[in-house]
Parts: sequence; C-alpha cells; structure tokens
Amino acid sequence: MSFYSQDLVEEVRSGSDIVDVISGYIKLQRKGSNYVGVCPFHNDRNPSMSVNQARQIYHCFSCGAGGDVFKFVMEYENLTFPEAMKVLADRAGVTLPEQDRSREARQQADLKAQIMELNKLAAKYYYYTLRQPAGKQGLDYLLGRQLTRETIQKFGLGYADKYSSSLYQYLKSKGYSDQLLKESGLMQVDEKRGMYDKFWNRVIFPIMDTHNRVIGFGGRVMGDGKPKYLNSPETKVFDKSRNLYGLNLARMSRKPNIILCEGYMDVIAMHQAGFNQAVASLGTAFTQQQSVILKRYTNEVLLTYDSDEAGVKAALRAIPILKDAGLTAKIIHMEPYKDPDEFIKAEGTENFQKRMDEAESSFFFEIRMLERQYDFREPESKTAFFRALSGKLLEFEQGIERNTYIEAAAEKYHLTYEQLLHMVNQTGVKLGGLTRAPAPVRASEQKRKKAEDGSLRSQRLLITWMSSGARMFRNIRKYVEPEDFTDPLCRKVAELLAEQLASGKLNPASLFQYFTEEEDQQKVSAMLQGTIPMLSPKEEEEALKETILRVKQTSIAWQMEHMDPGDAETMQNIIQKRREIEKLHISLD
Ligand code: UTP
Ligand code: MN
Repeated sequence: MSFYSQDLVEEVRSGSDIVDVISGYIKLQRKGSNYVGVCPFHNDRNPSMSVNQARQIYHCFSCGAGGDVFKFVMEYENLTFPEAMKVLADRAGVTLPEQDRSREARQQADLKAQIMELNKLAAKYYYYTLRQPAGKQGLDYLLGRQLTRETIQKFGLGYADKYSSSLYQYLKSKGYSDQLLKESGLMQVDEKRGMYDKFWNRVIFPIMDTHNRVIGFGGRVMGDGKPKYLNSPETKVFDKSRNLYGLNLARMSRKPNIILCEGYMDVIAMHQAGFNQAVASLGTAFTQQQSVILKRYTNEVLLTYDSDEAGVKAALRAIPILKDAGLTAKIIHMEPYKDPDEFIKAEGTENFQKRMDEAESSFFFEIRMLERQYDFREPESKTAFFRALSGKLLEFEQGIERNTYIEAAAEKYHLTYEQLLHMVNQTGVKLGGLTRAPAPVRASEQKRKKAEDGSLRSQRLLITWMSSGARMFRNIRKYVEPEDFTDPLCRKVAELLAEQLASGKLNPASLFQYFTEEEDQQKVSAMLQGTIPMLSPKEEEEALKETILRVKQTSIAWQMEHMDPGDAETMQNIIQKRREIEKLHISLD
C-alpha cells in the first residue's frame, strides 16, 4: 500500500497519538475511557464519533466511518496514504527518507508539479485580464448572467482576450519551454501557425481539484458562437473522469446531500443561491470513479439534469452508476425551465428548495421514463411494460425495500400487491433462479436469518474481546482458532491479531492497512471499537464463555453444512469436535 517500511509507519503512528491528532480537527470530550466528538464525515450535531486512545482508533456509530490515525487524516484532508504519512511525520518530527523512486517517476512528479504551477499562473492571468479594460466584455457578460462580483471572485472566473496568443506570450516571457506549454493543454499547435492559445475571446472557468489546485479550464463564448464551451484536454494533471467541478467547495458544505448538475454555470448559480453542495461533471458523462468519490462525502445525490431529452438520458445513465456506489439518487425536476440556472433566476431559492424537497426517487423516475415507451391501450404492450417493471423491481435486494417498492408501484398502477408480487416472481423465475423474489417471508426463513445475524454478532463481539488486550487474547485463543470464524472478515482479523501477538505486540490500529475496501474498514473499526457490555467480572466471564461457545457451534454447523457427505473421516472429525464442545470447560483467569 505504500513505499514506506512497516517500521517507519509504526514509528510515525506511535508519534501521532490519535486523540491529539483528531483534537486538532474537531473538539473531543472525554467520556469514560473514550473520547467523543461530532463526526466530521457526515452531517450531525450529536457526538457520535468515539475515539479510543488505548487502541488508537476511531469509529462513528452513526455513519460507520472509522479507522486509525492515518485513515482519519486521509479522510479529513482528502489525502492519499503517502500524503497523510507526510503530514503526520512532520507533526511527529519523524524524518522520512527521500523516496527511492525511479528517475522516470520523479520526472513525472516534476512534470505534474510544473503543469499545476503553469495552470495557476494562467488562472491568475485570466483572472487579472477580466478586471482590466480589455476584459470588460467578459465581465459584462458574467454580470449580465446575474453573477455577483463576489461569486465571480469565489469561482476565480477570468477572461481570455480576443488575441490568440496573449497567454502564450505571457508564459514565454516567464521562461517556460514550448515543450511544457504543450503538455499543459493550455496551447494548441498546428503546422502552419505554430503554437497559440487554446482559449481566446472566452470567459474562463478554472477547474479545481479538491485541494484547490487548478487542474484545467473551461471557456465559454460570450454569445451564440460554437462550440459553446471549450475544455482543456486531459493532461498529466487533468483527469476528467476523476474530478468534479465545484467539489472543492461542495465537500465543505456539510449539507445532507450533493446536487449533481450538468454544467459549470448551473453549479455557480446554485452556489450563489446558497446551495453550496452543487457539483458538475466536466463536459463528459458522469463516471463510476466520480460516484465513488461522491460517496466519500455523502449518501444521497440529487440530480438536476436538463429537462430535455438529452438531460433525461444523462440522468438515466447516471442513476445505476450512483446506485452501484451505494448512493441514493433522486431527481429534482426543473420544468418548465431548462436547467437549475434558469430555474433559480426565474423562481428563486425558496421554490428551488421546494423542488428539492419533492425530488423523485430514482426508481419512480426510471419507471416513469420506461412507461413512455409503451402504449397502455395495447394489451400486449401493457403486459410488456409490467414485465419490464417487474424486472426493475427485481433489482432491489429481496426484503423490506423490494416489498415497499412493490407496494408503491402496485398502487401507482392500480394493481393489488399480490398481483404485482406474482408478476415479479414470475419474471424472477424467467430471469433465472438467482433473482427469484421472496414469497412472503416464511417463518422458518426468518428464523434462519435471525440465527445468522446472531452468529455474526457473536463473532464480531468475540473479536472485540480478543483485541482488548494480550492476556484476554491468549485466553480466548486457547479455545478458538481463527478458522472457527465463519465470517471471512472476522477470520482475517483474528488471523492478523494472532500474527501480531506472535511477533510481540497487539496493535489493533495497524490492522486497517490490510483492508482496502471502505466497507470492510468500517466493519473492522466497528468491531475494534465495539463496546463490551458493562458487566461485573463474573458476568463478563459468563458472557464471554457463552460467546465462545456460540462461535464454536457456528463453526461446527458450518463445517457440517459444507462437507462432502460421503467423507466419513471428516464426518467423524466433526462429530468428535462437537462432543468436545459440549464438554468444553472454559475457564478464564
Ligand atoms: P449546456 O449546454 O447545458 O450549458 O452544457 P449550460 O451549462 O446551460 O451553459 P450556459 O448556461 O448556456 O452557459 C452543460 C455542460 O456541458 C459541457 C460544459 O461542461 C457545460 O457546462 N459542454 C457544453 C461542453 O463541454 N461543450 C459545449 O459545447 C457545450
Ligand atoms: Mn444553462
């Protein structure tokens, strides 16, 4: 995961007490043996984040965020691991060795830094020009679109004048090479004319990454010319699929959702109206990488795509991408206006807020659009629609959510719940057994599910106990093998804890580096930060014994279920183990 040695990582960690570090960002209060504070990773007023000094980890009981000190700094400052390592090493006074990177990698890094520097200089130049007499036309254009001077400044808007090589000459006068200028995407090159500015006679929208570094530009004609917008090409620093316009501001907005718009002007108009959680993709379709990035900051995305056919298409394409990243998507309707910018101008903030409150769930939006392709006066077409609708309903995981939507859709199309459920089941069977919808949940099924949840809880609780100290770990380890955990994540954690102890020291915080998925990290932090019920020592011992037994029993049951029925030896083994468990006498000291 990084090019630093494990020892160095641990050295930095031990110099970065998690309570100290997090206190530098948010206010922490002591509560019992823990510290608590308001979680900065979701919108909250309550102190749901708990920081455990002994284990050097944090966990938010409300949004699930959690990890070690590196994770906190990475999340809070939006840094990569090596960057967080730098920040914490500086703070702890640990000197990091010069990275032993290849010459090529170093040159690449230098090139990136140089392009960033050039972009910054260009942004300043455009910004300055907008405020000169030569920029009057640009400024008038922006003011004419009802942007305030404050907004123009906040977004660093600028102007490229009507000469086609002003920026080129300016940057050459600063000593930059043609080669670098070419790599920056700020210039265009052609055989006949040589090198000249990419943008001229346009208002300029600098595009920033989340660290407020200028990575590219958009430029708009001040009228009806074509193309309406020009954008920087992709460069070493400008990846259109991994950045979003306005995210540098939106990520600090602390709003419960993010508003995804189509254009630069929409984002700016929204921010000016106080909806400072608005972002837009960069003149390209919304990507999977962008949705993963948004998921870091929110759970809900409101789409305000244009109300024309192209906007509908773009929304229909974005919805599954958002859902795949685990985001809830809703659609804000702007009719009769084209886009949020026009809506706000015509109707104002309050009415936009109303439209936000009435945003349509992505499911109903999708089926409404689907409906348009069918003719309900034709019985066959109508049946085909219901089949398609059933298919969509099958996309929800079985259970409460699917049932809720079946109910709602049944009502919308004047069917009974049973009728629609039947269609969904039929469609599910046709699509293949995997997606078969549930018959109204059977009692035995419910019981099995409950038992599964229970055994998972026991496994997690046991991990909490195991990670609470070396003595406790050794004690439990006498009875439980890592293989006894049927939950893969629990098993992995148990293995890692065992390894740590074998090499000398339990260090729960350093477990996080082994889990790259956010979801896993959250589960691990929940386990490590889990609370053991406050009990008397005797009661705790009882509870622990019971938990160990339950974990062992689950393990046996799992083995029974997964063994080859013809394998007599394994069967013997399992039966033997089960007997042992029945007689098992657990004593803890
Ligand atoms: P729109 O055509 O909806 O523009 O394009 P807009 O945001 O409403 O702009 P105004 O209000 O007319 O100024 C939406 C986005 O699509 C990209 C831009 O990123 C724009 O913000 N686009 C559009 C281009 O890249 N090139 C174009 O020629 C047009
Ligand atoms: Mn517009």
